[in-house]
Amino acid sequence: MKKEKLLPDAPGPIGIFDSGYGGLTILDKIRTELPEYDYIYLGDNARTPYGTRSFDVVYKYTLECVTQLFEMGCQLVVLACNTASAKALRSIQQRDLQLLDPNRRVLGVIRPTVEAVGAMTKTKHIGLLATSGTVQSNSYPLEIAKLHNDIVVTSEACPMWVPLIENNEHNSVGADYFVRKNVEHLFAADSQIDTVMLGCTHYPLLETKIKSLLPDGVAVVSQGDIVASSLVDYLQRHPEMAAKCTKNASIRYLTTESVEKFSSSASVFLNEKIEAEHIDLE
Ligand code: DGL
Repeated sequence: MKKEKLLPDAPGPIGIFDSGYGGLTILDKIRTELPEYDYIYLGDNARTPYGTRSFDVVYKYTLECVTQLFEMGCQLVVLACNTASAKALRSIQQRDLQLLDPNRRVLGVIRPTVEAVGAMTKTKHIGLLATSGTVQSNSYPLEIAKLHNDIVVTSEACPMWVPLIENNEHNSVGADYFVRKNVEHLFAADSQIDTVMLGCTHYPLLETKIKSLLPDGVAVVSQGDIVASSLVDYLQRHPEMAAKCTKNASIRYLTTESVEKFSSSASVFLNEKIEAEHIDLE
């Protein structure tokens, strides 16, 4: 597919970005809440996973994808990826938007999750399961400290989980091994945890497995519903942005990798048949 020219200020679809398939778990919930809008989903599958990459690389890749979505007419882009939200969102919001178009908006997934999680824990001990990049960025503990300074966060990096999911191995015995290993490690570090945040948009595909390994009474916080209701709230509070988002209930799926692979894997994530288009970011 050829790149489209930079559009003027015309209304456009809502852009949803992830390094791969994980953001589909967010898109699914967003479309349930806001079915009337148009969406473009962009998965940077050619360069996934982002979770083990450096700050500079994640920022560069994320900015390229956001710029692409802007060029395709999106006025509003959701980074449906914790790693990109942790490592690129602030720089894009504070620096790049000024240069690209100060009227467009980019939202992340960490802030809404942190806002929601405070009310869920009784012990005030929360566990975070996330990519190495998100854990190393320290974004969750820092954001939680700003809103709820009585909550202790214990983080566990799970570098094998995204590759297992991207390769459709999340129901395998190999996945059982790695999920058990990381969950046990988290609870060995803090046995008072009563709430576990899935701080990676791929992880809902492992949710059943994760839940089966948790001590009784421990709740799991998955981000899809939280991010979807936060977007509903955002669009209500920002009618000027809602007016810039078109409403024909359409969806396009773009991938930087093979269309065949994306279409078949994404159909597993969404439980419906989809047809993707290829995009080159160059
Ligand atoms: N889905 C992304 C997230 O929420 C990460 C995946 C990756 O490592 O690329 O962090």
